Amino acid sequence: MLFRFVTRLLFVISLTCLAPGLAHAEFSRAPYLQLATENSIHLVWRTQAAIKPVVHFGTSQENLNQICREDQILVRRTQKDKHSGKAPPLHSAPDNTFQFEAQITGLKADTLYHYAIYEGTTRLTPDDGSYHFRTHPEHGKKRDIYLWAVGDSGTGSQMQKDVHQAMINYNKKHNLTLDMYLHVGDMAYGSGKDPEFQANFFEIYEPTLRNTVCWPAMGNHEGYTSKGKTGIGPYYDAYISPTRGEAGGASSGKESYYSYDYGRAHFIVLNSHDLDRSPSAAMAQWLREDLAKTSPEKTDWLIAYWHHPPYTKGSHDSDKEKQHIEMRTHIMPILESAGVDLVLGGHSHIYERSMLMDGAYDTPTTAENKIFDDGDGDAKGDGSYQKSPGLKPNQGTIQIVTGHGGQGLRRKGYSPVMKRSILQHGSTLVHISGDTLNTKMLNYRGEIVDTFQIVKNQAVTPSRIAKPWQPGRPSKGKYIIPKKAEWRYLAGNFAPKDWTRPGFDDSTWKNGKAGFGYGDADDTTELDMQNKYTSVYLRKTFKLQQPTDVNHLWLGISYDDAFILYLNGKEVIRNGVTKGQSENATGIAQHEANNSFEMFDLTPYAKLLKTGTNTIAIEGHNHAPTSSDFTLHPTILRAQ
Ligand SMILES: [Fe+2]
Repeated sequence: MLFRFVTRLLFVISLTCLAPGLAHAEFSRAPYLQLATENSIHLVWRTQAAIKPVVHFGTSQENLNQICREDQILVRRTQKDKHSGKAPPLHSAPDNTFQFEAQITGLKADTLYHYAIYEGTTRLTPDDGSYHFRTHPEHGKKRDIYLWAVGDSGTGSQMQKDVHQAMINYNKKHNLTLDMYLHVGDMAYGSGKDPEFQANFFEIYEPTLRNTVCWPAMGNHEGYTSKGKTGIGPYYDAYISPTRGEAGGASSGKESYYSYDYGRAHFIVLNSHDLDRSPSAAMAQWLREDLAKTSPEKTDWLIAYWHHPPYTKGSHDSDKEKQHIEMRTHIMPILESAGVDLVLGGHSHIYERSMLMDGAYDTPTTAENKIFDDGDGDAKGDGSYQKSPGLKPNQGTIQIVTGHGGQGLRRKGYSPVMKRSILQHGSTLVHISGDTLNTKMLNYRGEIVDTFQIVKNQAVTPSRIAKPWQPGRPSKGKYIIPKKAEWRYLAGNFAPKDWTRPGFDDSTWKNGKAGFGYGDADDTTELDMQNKYTSVYLRKTFKLQQPTDVNHLWLGISYDDAFILYLNGKEVIRNGVTKGQSENATGIAQHEANNSFEMFDLTPYAKLLKTGTNTIAIEGHNHAPTSSDFTLHPTILRAQ
């Protein structure tokens, strides 16, 4: 008895010494869910001291009447800490780390369970109802599916947190519960080290990870410390992915690529980073085997994801970089011949979303005869994309680049297959209900800025469009606000309250012809801002007779260094300003105007337009008061 008391006392002392001042000193990595199936799930957590854990679980929060005992929980330690038994050692976790991996089995399908982690009679997880999991529905069962996809997020930045919080707020407001979380890679910048995983992934997403399984794809930043070939590294320590077809599909034998079923959907995760992507290599062979095994009677939807997207012109160029080119030329033909519906990627720090397309495997990518539907796929816009029921070969794919989860954004150009190219932080929400797949891009402020649907309710014979709609600079357009238009302007760092609103009284502001600035002799209205102030505010109204007819509205702007644009009082485009607005704007990037007008697609915000008078407000920011030049020269045009 005395011995037990002393042991317990020593444990408490060691715990106190190792993790001082933490409210939940018990966990150095809070509990999170992994690898769910119809009848099992994994629960993983870490401590910095030995504990003898028991997992209690049950279908009622008040009655956790089932137990996962200590002998069903795998304990992993670092090589240095002398791991024992069959458990593989942790690659580079801090000294004295204990990683516990509880496999909870014998569960009922599609059932919500609450859980708690105990040490003896001491409950380590709070009793607040948020610690729960839901098993997968039976493969083939009709059931709605709701998932969150995000990429290139693991910076630890406020933007990463805002994107996550926007998803939480949206789900709360609409009473939605995630069934799963897809991460398309780059979750632990800069090099996927164990502490980077802890700070930039586990701590930020903790409220989601405790009750939602994250099904990951490895990014290149994780690839600095984790290797796909060996399955060793902090990435492989963090995740438990199926290698033997545990959650459906064929055995891959590797955690690096795998598949899983959820109701009537099949999900495929590939490693685009550090494995052979050729058609004869092991990954492509497994992919063919997996697709051949996919039951057409039980599967209506096929979704695939990996880090390097087949089509992008964001911060990476899919026409120039090997991983993108090989995934497009070697992997996409296999997936499209199996009827893939949606392909998600990241790596490129932008949101891009394609038209309904098929067979675009060439380099450089061309769109002629590769597009089945060049509309926006919005049920309330051009109409939903149509495909035949079930998984039929080559009926069209939508490609999404969702690499805008936290890292700095960039656009190099426009891929000809993309319907949307939006430089805004955010994430992707996918909702499958019966014969309809609905997707939304939710930005970091909680606004939906893109939405489309795929509907599979009748047989469709797709036909190829010889000259589909093309993104990028409109070939023909009409100025709504021309280059030499007169604007109201206010020069100086401070903007009055509500200055972006349509009804704001700007009669005391000056009138000036665009553009505005100093230096480089490219400005019509010269400003005395050098060494005095760094911001200028512009307002202008324009009239529309039928805003619903505006199917293509563009901002053409020459700027140096940064700007935020508001349409009828709502912020819609932000370029080069990290945070805040007007005098509170911070993180101003440097950008040369070079006498050229860059194009920004305003079409996704067309719903903000009104019949009659509309108001554009723009704030321009200079990188520093000492800067040698500044330019703010906006135009608005309508493509024809
Ligand atoms: Fe990346």
